[in-house]
Amino acid sequence: MVSEPRTAAAQVLVASNRGPVSYSVGKDGELTAKRGGGGLVSGLSAIGDSPEDPAALWVCAALGEGDREAVRRGVGEPGVRMLDIDAGSREGVHAAAYNGIANSVLWFVHHMLYQTPLEPAFGPEFRAQWAAYETYNRAFAEALAAEAAPGASVLVQDYHLTLVPGMLRELRDDVRIGHFSHTPWAPADYFRMLPDDVAEQVLRGMLGADRLGFLTGRWADAFTECCVRLLGGTSGTRIGVHGLGADADFLRERSRRDDVEERMATLREQIGEGRKAIVRVDRTELSKNIVRGMLAYRELLETRPEWRERVVHVAFAYPSRQDLAVYREYTAEVSRVAEEINSTYGTPGWTPVILHVDDDFARSLAAYRLADVALVNPIRDGMNLVAKEVPVVSDEGCALVLSREAGAFEELGEDAIPVNPYDVTATAEALHAGLSMPVGERAERTKRLAAAATALPPAQWFLDQLHALTGDRP
Ligand code: G6P
Repeated sequence: MVSEPRTAAAQVLVASNRGPVSYSVGKDGELTAKRGGGGLVSGLSAIGDSPEDPAALWVCAALGEGDREAVRRGVGEPGVRMLDIDAGSREGVHAAAYNGIANSVLWFVHHMLYQTPLEPAFGPEFRAQWAAYETYNRAFAEALAAEAAPGASVLVQDYHLTLVPGMLRELRDDVRIGHFSHTPWAPADYFRMLPDDVAEQVLRGMLGADRLGFLTGRWADAFTECCVRLLGGTSGTRIGVHGLGADADFLRERSRRDDVEERMATLREQIGEGRKAIVRVDRTELSKNIVRGMLAYRELLETRPEWRERVVHVAFAYPSRQDLAVYREYTAEVSRVAEEINSTYGTPGWTPVILHVDDDFARSLAAYRLADVALVNPIRDGMNLVAKEVPVVSDEGCALVLSREAGAFEELGEDAIPVNPYDVTATAEALHAGLSMPVGERAERTKRLAAAATALPPAQWFLDQLHALTGDRP
């Protein structure tokens, strides 16, 4: 399943399900690599002079057919090792672990997404998927154990890999292990929906790390509370909070390029002269609360008709996790509600909702720049970087309507317009307040929001964790 360990053992290793590169196979059979961005990419590249520093290694899973083909052909990017979890006799293991457990159980628990009268129902299918999750975590632990230099630091990411710290600790007692959660953590009563043995395995797996990182104090406290209630304590594992911020330098430069300017011109034309824009940009993700956001916009048009023809809701909802039926249904519901609003309120010269479902980063930045109001209303969210990115690139200031259940609320709450994500009427009122905010106040708040949003840039966020981990075990 895994290729031979490299001779140069790595000093710093990152492990995550989704890696920094993905491959696609063209018609001619050629493999094309696409590099992704994000906090971990810039963090890891900050370690050495070059991102190809042989001392750093990123271990990730092969996700699509292109990735698996790349592993089969032995094609790879420097500093990245992809694991084809399904190779050999393990067909279906990755899907069962990723779709079945990580995204349908652990994600649901931490974001509190279950419709509890009927779900979850943990039976034999769950147990089979749980076994796959163990296999998948073990594959990571073994690869990391093989690649790590003596005393290396290993930084494991997210809910996909909760068992890795414990498994790796058994294989290698000399390495330093950190784990970081990019999601919220469930309150203890909700977490205990998991079967007792599984709940305990998750916590013990994570506590195999020397140090655990969370995005906010709230999620760290929830984790600690789970450990106290289920295990009696955190058994000496250190817990830290690192509130990942936006990458100001990158965003400011990238958002001023020509492709963004072009998309701004197109968007302006679609929105129409003199109209305000309420912008949202999300994965089409259940926890992002896109439908209630649209219902709030509809209520605004209904109860405050003075906004009709004077505002447009620009909603970008990019495809995500479409292997899961509930995500496909949610995506369809987003489109249905958008169409319903357009057919009820639209006029020949005005389309109230502009919905785009194809991913286009330059267009997202264009929307950030011209937004009058940004709507970020998740049910529950580890951080939410959109809330942090908009104020950084906004041209003339933007009012931020922000859910109090987003991790970012801890840092941005003071200058945002807070909302309870379930309260559609209150969200409609918050949109009205945002649209009505005086230009000067908007600009002032945006300045303060941008400062708070960039307090901990991704590279520093990463290095802080690394240093804290090294300091922990001299
Ligand atoms: C969240 C998770 C990440 C994940 C991302 C996209 O931010 O914390 O681990 O990579 O969503 O989801 P996906 O399932 O497409 O990787």
